[in-house]
Amino acid sequence: MGNGTENREQWGSRLGFIMAAAGSAVGLGNIWRFPYVTGMNGGGAFVLCYVAIVFTIGVSVMLAEFVIGRSAGLNAVGSFRKLKGGAWPVVGWMGVIAGFIILSFYGVIAGWTIAYMIKSFTGLMTLAAEGKAGDAFGAFVSNPTQVVLYQVLFMVMTIWIVFKGVGEGIERYCKVMMPALFVILLILIVRSVTLPGAGKGLEFYLTPDFSKLTGASVFAALGQGFFSLSLGMGCMITYGSYLSKKEILPSAAITVTFLDTMVAFLAGFAIFPAVFAFGLEPAAGPGLTFITLPNVFAKMPGGMIFSFLFFLLLFFAALTSSVSLLEVCVAYFKDEMGWTREKASWLLGGIITALGIPSALSLGGHFPKIAGKDFLDVMDFISSNVLLPLGGIFIALFVGWVWLEGAKKEATNEGKAPFAWETAWVWIVRVVAPVAIAWIFVKGLKW
Ligand code: PHE
Repeated sequence: MGNGTENREQWGSRLGFIMAAAGSAVGLGNIWRFPYVTGMNGGGAFVLCYVAIVFTIGVSVMLAEFVIGRSAGLNAVGSFRKLKGGAWPVVGWMGVIAGFIILSFYGVIAGWTIAYMIKSFTGLMTLAAEGKAGDAFGAFVSNPTQVVLYQVLFMVMTIWIVFKGVGEGIERYCKVMMPALFVILLILIVRSVTLPGAGKGLEFYLTPDFSKLTGASVFAALGQGFFSLSLGMGCMITYGSYLSKKEILPSAAITVTFLDTMVAFLAGFAIFPAVFAFGLEPAAGPGLTFITLPNVFAKMPGGMIFSFLFFLLLFFAALTSSVSLLEVCVAYFKDEMGWTREKASWLLGGIITALGIPSALSLGGHFPKIAGKDFLDVMDFISSNVLLPLGGIFIALFVGWVWLEGAKKEATNEGKAPFAWETAWVWIVRVVAPVAIAWIFVKGLKW
C-alpha cells in the first residue's frame, strides 16, 4: 500500500502534459454544457460572471491541485494521506466517488456523440429538414439497446487508452485529439459567423443583460466552472502527480484554464450565431446540441459534413476528459490497493459502465425518476453541484491553512521559480475561494 513515487509513470513532455490536462478540462462541459447553461442564464452577463469566477477561484484551485499532486506523487487519496493524514484522505475519497459518478453518466452522453456522427450521414439531416430532429432524438434516447451499445463502445475506448498508460495512452492520444479539436472548432466558427443573420446570435451571446443574472446563475457559473476545469475531485492532483519537478506549476495552471475557457467561449461562437440565424431557441437546455444543431446543419449547404465534424469535435473532447475521470479511479486502486493498471482499468471501467446504465435508460423513461428528475440529471447535480464544490472548498482550505508552507515551496519549485500572483493565490485559497464557494453553495443548493 502507498508505494512511493519511485518508478512512477511520468508525462513525456511539457506539451504532452498540457495537452492531457487541457484534454481533461475541455470536454462535454465546454461544448455541450456551457452553451446551453449560458443560453438558460441570459447570455453575455453569465459569460462575464463565469470568466470572473474561473480566473480567480478556478485557476487557484487548479494550482492547489497540481501542487498537492506533484508534491506527494500519489493518487488523490494517497496524496492527502502522505501530506497530512488524519481525516484529509476523505477529500480524496470524495473525489474518487465523484469520478465514478461523473464518468457513469458522461459515458452515456459521449456515446450519443458517436451515434450522431453516424446519423449525420444516415438520415438525420432529412429528418431535421422535416422538423423532426426532436422526435428523432427522443426516439434515439428511448431505445435502450442503442443507447447502451454506444455507451459501452465509448467506455471501451476510454478503458483502452487508460490501460495503455500515462505516456503511451493518455498523453499520446491527447496530443493528437486536442489539436484536431481546435482545427474543427475553427472551421465550425467560420461557418457559423458567416451565415446571414448571425449577428443576432452574437448580440445575445456578447451583450450582457445583468437583469438576467440571478443568484441561481452565479451558482450555475460556479458549478459549471468546477466541472469544466475538472476541479474538486482530484483529477488535477492525479495528473499533477505524473509531473516532473522542473515543471512551472503556476503557468501550467494559467495555460490550462485559459485553453479551457477559450474553447468554451469559442463553442458559443460556433453555436449561437447559427442558432439565431435559423430562428431557433438558444435556451433549449441539454437538447441544444442534439436537437437544435441538427436543425441548423440541415439548413446549411454541406450540412452533413458540418454535422459530422461537430459531433467528431464533441467526441474528441469527451474522450480526452473521460480518460482523466477513469485515471483518478485507476491511480487510486493502483497506488493504494496494489492493483495492476490492466486490472484497474478494465474492472473499474466495467463497474462504471454498469453504473451508467440507469442514466442511459433514464432519458427514455425506462428508469424511475427521482424527485421528478431523470436519473442522469440527478447524477449530474450531485457531482457537479455538490461533490465538486465541496471538494474545492476542502482542497483550498488544505493548501491555505493546513499545509501552506509546503504548498508555497512546491508551487515555486523550492523558491527557484517565484510567481507574480503568489500573494493573490494564497489569499484566494485561504479566504476568497472557501467563503465564496460556501456562500454560493448555501444560497444556491436547491433543485
Ligand atoms: N472537465 C470535463 C468537461 O468539461 C469534465 C470533467 C469533470 C472531467 C471532472 C474530469 C473531472 O467536460
